Amino acid sequence: MKLAIGIMSGTSLDGVDVVLVQIKENFKDTKVKIVDFKTYPIEKEIKRRIISQLNLNTSNVKEITSLNFEISEMFARQTKSLLEANGLTSEDISFVASHGQTIYHLPKEIGDLRPSTLQLGDGSVLANNLNITTISNFRTADMAVGGQGAPLVPYADYCLYSSDKVERIMLNIGGIANVTYLKKGGSLDDVIAFDTGPGNMIINYFMEKLYDLPYDNNGDIAKKGELIKPLFEELVNNEYFKLPYPKSTGREDFGSSFSEEILNKYKNEKKEDLIATATHFTAKTISMGCKLICDKLEGFELIASGGGAHNAYLLKLLSEYLKEVKVTTTSFYGLNVDAKEALAFVILGNETLSGKSSNVKSATGAKKDVILGQISNVITK
Ligand SMILES: Nc1ncnc2c1ncn2[C@@H]1O[C@H](COP(=O)(O)OP(=O)(O)O)[C@@H](O)[C@H]1O
Ligand SMILES: [Mg+2]
Repeated sequence: MKLAIGIMSGTSLDGVDVVLVQIKENFKDTKVKIVDFKTYPIEKEIKRRIISQLNLNTSNVKEITSLNFEISEMFARQTKSLLEANGLTSEDISFVASHGQTIYHLPKEIGDLRPSTLQLGDGSVLANNLNITTISNFRTADMAVGGQGAPLVPYADYCLYSSDKVERIMLNIGGIANVTYLKKGGSLDDVIAFDTGPGNMIINYFMEKLYDLPYDNNGDIAKKGELIKPLFEELVNNEYFKLPYPKSTGREDFGSSFSEEILNKYKNEKKEDLIATATHFTAKTISMGCKLICDKLEGFELIASGGGAHNAYLLKLLSEYLKEVKVTTTSFYGLNVDAKEALAFVILGNETLSGKSSNVKSATGAKKDVILGQISNVITK
């Protein structure tokens, strides 16, 4: 067994997930055990500056360059804190796998711009702050061979959850929601995975603007509201939901400009109705995504993770939109819903260090199997 650290900071900017994991073997034989997990707050000033880089009107190359280093230094502080809490030092850790903070993701060509992606949090800076071998920049290799660079977690989903007995859909509800279909008895090539659309992103934006709160705890506000039909129709008729998979999306499509426009248009509606409608929209588009995978979902199990899995009302709506499906969460299988993505990057990093490919071509659209990530080595005695 090796000890490793996984670091994930998603599109929600709600915090940095750091997981300490025991890991051994590869691919379907991979065995993992979570030793500790913590979500660390993103330091306020850094968060404010990251947010301003996500907006094309306020982004600034000097800031981006500096943040690329500062974010790694923050990740290193957080990792040290988790190690200390466990009585461990750098020498006990075989490797760190870090996703980084996505600053921009262009899955498809737009005009002269080629498909590309940028995650901040440089691997060498992280490796040398911690004195631990670090794997970072997981998405670029897949894009270099024609993939969309996302989603990458399906590989880990397949390793941990594929079954010979049951059809499974893994659902992660972060800022964006994504699904991974694990065909009963299927191979890695049978995996279907894509972003269904916004997860918490629009709900959070509305909560921030209307209630000055970061999110709708448990969905308690949405539960009190009613569906605004014209808004709901407008949202679900968005082009994205008609696209075939593989497909991926992000703040570029459903970020602040998108949400702000809607809020302006529907500003006379009741606040709780807007939250309810955004929550229905997420549940409905997840269910539409599941139906893109298979028309008949009887006997399917849907296993949710990500912060949105704490939104009880969202999960209830999802069960209603997907009556034939058994909806559960990874907690039911002993895996903390918040730790799953960081754990997935440990699994990917482990493959990288073993010289094995871990992109799922059917999910990203890549033309070739590739080894993901860049390895930053350090001198260890
Ligand atoms: N108790 C809760 N009730 C409702 N929503 C929650 C709760 N806890 C977390 N969330 C939602 O989950 C989000 C964080 O999810 P996460 O999986 O970390 O997303 P990302 O990968 O985009 O960072 C929060 O911004 C919030 O919207
Ligand atoms: Mg998060």
